Amino acid sequence: MDVQILIVDYGSQYTLVIGRTLRELGVRSVILPPKKVDEWLKNNTPKAVILSGSNWSVHDEGAPGLPNSLDITGKKYSVLGICYGMQLLAYKLGGKVERPLAHREYGPATVKLNAKHPLFNGVKEKTEVWASHGDTVTTLPKDFVSIGTSSGIAAMSSKTNRVLGIQFHPEVVDTKEGKKILQNFITLSNCEKDWNPANLIQQIQKEVINIVGKEKKVILGVSGGVDSTTLARILAPVLKDRLICVAIDTGGLRKDELKELKENTKSAKVKKLVIISASKEFTKNISTTVDGEEKRAKFRNVYKRIFEEQIKKYNAKFIAQGTLATDIIESGKIGKSAMIKTHHNVGLSWKVEDLHPLRNLFKYEVRELARVLKLPKAVYERNPFPGPGLYLRVVGTPVSKENIELVREADKTVNDILKKHNVAKNISQLIVALLGINSVGVKGDERVYGHSLAIRAVQTSDFMTVKGYYFPEEVVNEITNALTKHKNIVRVFFDFTPKPPATTEFE
Ligand code: XMP
Repeated sequence: MDVQILIVDYGSQYTLVIGRTLRELGVRSVILPPKKVDEWLKNNTPKAVILSGSNWSVHDEGAPGLPNSLDITGKKYSVLGICYGMQLLAYKLGGKVERPLAHREYGPATVKLNAKHPLFNGVKEKTEVWASHGDTVTTLPKDFVSIGTSSGIAAMSSKTNRVLGIQFHPEVVDTKEGKKILQNFITLSNCEKDWNPANLIQQIQKEVINIVGKEKKVILGVSGGVDSTTLARILAPVLKDRLICVAIDTGGLRKDELKELKENTKSAKVKKLVIISASKEFTKNISTTVDGEEKRAKFRNVYKRIFEEQIKKYNAKFIAQGTLATDIIESGKIGKSAMIKTHHNVGLSWKVEDLHPLRNLFKYEVRELARVLKLPKAVYERNPFPGPGLYLRVVGTPVSKENIELVREADKTVNDILKKHNVAKNISQLIVALLGINSVGVKGDERVYGHSLAIRAVQTSDFMTVKGYYFPEEVVNEITNALTKHKNIVRVFFDFTPKPPATTEFE
């Protein structure tokens, strides 16, 4: 079933929590920044749209506006504006948004709600909420009524109940009855429950069998990561020995990764796993390249050729991959959305038909499927790792064998330290990269002119946006000490830049 709720992300720190809360209520959603919405709406019709909060004021120069094709009349879908989202709706529909000093609200607040309005069905008339806003709607748009007040208008509704706004944050746990309010919005917009892992697994199996039929073979690229392992586990029981899993040792794998890959594929109950050793070929093609996109392009070429060979060898008629919604969005494959980076396995044109059975899912949803399928914790809690692997972690200098080996060891060292200090659980992904910036250091009373390593740990739930993770000081010191023991490493940098403006990986 198509995604029913679109969340337009205006940058609030709580946007991802809206998505998670809806999922907890049984409904899936897609979160997109405003500039990606027009393309998405060309191919999708949601039942409801939520406009998130933001740090912007609608009056700021450059404040993000409404996507051109977004309908805010309530005719096509229900619309709920939260905080900035409500202010934007009010402002665009002819109301007034102001910043009266007395109306500033940050933190807990009590609101008085019109409990008769369906958005507040079952909610107490006086309820505690979490507010965080400077601006306030002071004049409602035509045909709107106030359905809640605090020190100003706290909620509004169109007379049709199809366009709604709330000034506080229902997604934050401090809004005691926030989940009820979001449930009421789901009901008002006629969304059906569509997040049921067991059903989803069956749907995927059915969809694949419908396309593949009863005889043809499928090649599945596996990396040992959560996406491809979960897909293998879903397809193995229906395709049986017609599923040929292919893994490539690219030379860019982390320490012990091949061993983990074998274990994970075994836990997915795969009958046939083929491992292709191709590190020489990848290194030969990539090793003189410094530019990130060029590296990715070269990686893709070799990757594609190896898979084409396997397709031919096994006479497979399909190739399946564990591509997720985020990969497709980020590779610029949603209409004309900006290409951020070429993912190694997205948008390749194969001689056979390609299948992306997880294409509508987000990482946290795949992790949930993996849990339901009883895959080991090592699979469903596994941090992602990019297909081009350590080739992307040697930055600004050619990817020689020595450099790759250096980041591989450094990655292992840092991972071990994080495990020892029990901080790995706070991190969505760790990046250890070799930076080709030489600088001066002193070791054993001698001058050294050597490389630097960058350590970057991020927190996120879907990798569309990430937050830098700040290590405790003792961890920073231990990492720095351990890494500078290498004769060529002079400095260690810690990178906390969020995405945007940075991306998770350096390339
Ligand atoms: P960025 O750097 O775009 O990364 O913020 C988002 C997530 O995607 C991973 N990534 C890739 N995964 N093939 C993959 O399988 C790729 O080409 C690729 N590039 C980035 C990245 O590690 C992060 O988890």
